[in-house]
Amino acid sequence: MNAQAPALSFSSSLLTGAEWNDAHVRELFHLATDVKAHPDRYHGALAGRFLAMIFEKPSLRTRVTFEIGIASLGGTAIFLDHANARLGERESIADVGRSLSRWVQGIVARVFSQEALETLAAHASVPVINALSDLYHPCQALADFFTLEEKFGSARGVKLAYIGDGNNVCHSLMIAGARVGAHVRIATPAGYEPNAKVVEAARRDAAATLGTIELFRAPEQAVSGAQAVYTDVWASMGQESEAEARAAIFAPYQVNAALMSHSAPDAIFLHCLPAHRGSEVTSEVMDSPRSIVFEQTENRLHVQKAILLMLLS
Ligand code: CP
Ligand code: NVA
Repeated sequence: MNAQAPALSFSSSLLTGAEWNDAHVRELFHLATDVKAHPDRYHGALAGRFLAMIFEKPSLRTRVTFEIGIASLGGTAIFLDHANARLGERESIADVGRSLSRWVQGIVARVFSQEALETLAAHASVPVINALSDLYHPCQALADFFTLEEKFGSARGVKLAYIGDGNNVCHSLMIAGARVGAHVRIATPAGYEPNAKVVEAARRDAAATLGTIELFRAPEQAVSGAQAVYTDVWASMGQESEAEARAAIFAPYQVNAALMSHSAPDAIFLHCLPAHRGSEVTSEVMDSPRSIVFEQTENRLHVQKAILLMLLS
């Protein structure tokens, strides 16, 4: 990975998270720290700018934090809900990208398909930000490592265990973890491992930051010595029909007090939310003092404001 941070141009997009190298992530965290401490310094940074928010799936955190973030920077968000904005249904995705680019200065999109997002970005002449796709959730993972840096001073060398489905959040944690030099230890059931190409690329990138990406079958092994334990839902949005079958397969992967007892003493617990208490995590863990889930949630706002500033100001 290139340690230089070439300036991100106006037309740069954040589609997978892999566009940004370790220096960009460092720059982002530096900016997010300042945005969090001095929000007033950035009022007006996006004055006169409009952003389209295309959401094909439900959202609480991502929608609210982007809308507040854009407004507090002086810009205007235009929300297109999933009923009216299913990409490719009413007109071609390319034409949506071309049309929006004539009016707005950026697009935030939560989509079913990463391919659709990339098609949109290929035909838009303004930055496109991935607000979650089937494959990635970069805004989430960047906010999570920012939160881990707040807790540990640096995420370099921090052992983070991710337990459950090798999904979009898992992929983005590997990509971001590789950039900050973390040790990302993933345990999934057979057949639910993260995408092999994403693992391979993250491992390659991690070599430059002395981070590691390791895959395990047994959750206890992944959690062993971990300073942070992360989980996500067992069935993601769009996989509702698989929820029952997945519940049986993922039951041994529940993050509960017994599993946490294998971690480092005082290990913290993370979840991107929404959480299903009693499924992937027990209330006991989720509501314990070790849980930093609402710090993660808060930091979505500060980090996304910094992302907007890096791409749009
Ligand atoms: N974590 C997250 O992206 O939450 P929402 O689905 O509510 O946006
Ligand atoms: N993996 C989950 C994350 C939600 C923020 C999903 O895609 O539904």
